[in-house]
Amino acid sequence: MKIAASYLSIKDNMEENIIKLTACDIDYLHVDVMDGIFVPSRTIPYEDLKTMINSNKPLDVHLMVKDVKEYIDLYKNLNPSFITFHYETNCDIMSLVMYLKEHNIGVGLAINPDTRVEAIMPYLPFIDMVLVMSVYPGKGGQEFIPTTLDKIKTLKDIKHNYKYSYLIEVDGGINIDTIASVKDVDISVIGSYITNGNYEERLKSIKEKIYG
Ligand code: DX5
Ligand code: ZN
Repeated sequence: MKIAASYLSIKDNMEENIIKLTACDIDYLHVDVMDGIFVPSRTIPYEDLKTMINSNKPLDVHLMVKDVKEYIDLYKNLNPSFITFHYETNCDIMSLVMYLKEHNIGVGLAINPDTRVEAIMPYLPFIDMVLVMSVYPGKGGQEFIPTTLDKIKTLKDIKHNYKYSYLIEVDGGINIDTIASVKDVDISVIGSYITNGNYEERLKSIKEKIYG
């Protein structure tokens, strides 16, 4: 399993702490983007953020925004490995899938806790990743919603049966107590559990749970 670290719960010394987090043994830096419309909170503007992310780690951008295309056009400039947007935005999903592919960016589609896997069935052959939200999007530090596990299982079964290639990512409420239950996903996003303590030590304890 790979780890994508989210800095969303860092409150002070953003730049310094993002650098510190990026230097840790993580696989991706998870860039949470919120517009104050699709979710109530808003993250700092792209122009300010881009100076803080001088990343030598692959970036995993998670757009919790209504106007997906507008934000893709900004965040594609960071050369991310993935840009993930939400099914619930009612956007033209296939045209955005094609647009990201044209730019050689991995395509992620996210589903909220109340959205069933069946809703995204038509898109599964075309995307690189499904992000299963294990909390309601909008803030860090929330509790893991256990029904997420059924959705992960469904996605694994569909992937196997249809020979699809998408990765499965889980996001929200992952910590030392919940990580074992999502052991079989490809990528786990972890935010507050890491950033509310000593980053290196917290990551080490998570990896011990994963690899024993
Ligand atoms: C939630 C964000 C998550 C968040 C995870 O809306 O998409 O990426 O930062 O934070 P934790 O790990 O604290 O639940
Ligand atoms: Zn996220």
